Amino acid sequence: MGKVVLFNHPLIQHKLSIIRNKNTDTKTFRENVNEIGSLVTFEVTRDLLTKKIEVETPVASTTCEVLAKEVVIVPILRAGLGMVDGIHNVIPTAKIGHIGLYRDEETLQPQEYYLKFPKEIIDATVLVVDPMLATGGSAVAAINRVKKAGAKDIRFVGIVGCPEGVKALTTAHPDVDIYLVSIDEKLNEHGYIVPGLGDCGDRLFGTK
Ligand code: PRP
Ligand code: URA
Repeated sequence: MGKVVLFNHPLIQHKLSIIRNKNTDTKTFRENVNEIGSLVTFEVTRDLLTKKIEVETPVASTTCEVLAKEVVIVPILRAGLGMVDGIHNVIPTAKIGHIGLYRDEETLQPQEYYLKFPKEIIDATVLVVDPMLATGGSAVAAINRVKKAGAKDIRFVGIVGCPEGVKALTTAHPDVDIYLVSIDEKLNEHGYIVPGLGDCGDRLFGTK
């Protein structure tokens, strides 16, 4: 079974309080989602393998460590886009794949409308990114697609989850570690996380 990691770092919790607040404007919301993306990346990547290389400093030759494998970031559109710059600022060599999914409002089932992965995905450490883990349907579907593309080393990086979403994801993909800032109380009858932060895509892009 993959692990479920929760970030209780004060800076991250502080930023979570900002994005939960319904009075936070679009610009501030987007900045804080991105900053959470950067901050969680340190822990998400803590166990990445490194390889040794020789580097010439201005003074001498020395042995350094660099990432042994590529990292591929796969945001689930739209809301996943909100964390990409923050993660990419910390891992600038990462390639970025995209998967477009929206939840059918009635059935809550994810509908795929876009897919583009870099060829490196097969051997890379893949970070599937979506701030919201609600029913878990989108994360499960996205990871199904990432695995179909050949990826074997996959982590899910989100912000707000709930017990239902964590259960669905760990059941469907027990090999995938899950990183979240909060596991909230529950889902409401419309499939929204309670207390959550509302519709993340709409709040990121000002569409409501
Ligand atoms: C939201 C959110 C997640 C998904 C989570 O996307 O961004 O992708 O719902 O819900 P789930 O765990 O129940 O699948 P939405 O369908 O609203 O699309 P959007 O990001 O384009 O707004
Ligand atoms: N998607 C969101 O953006 N928010 C939720 O609470 C659930 C799904």
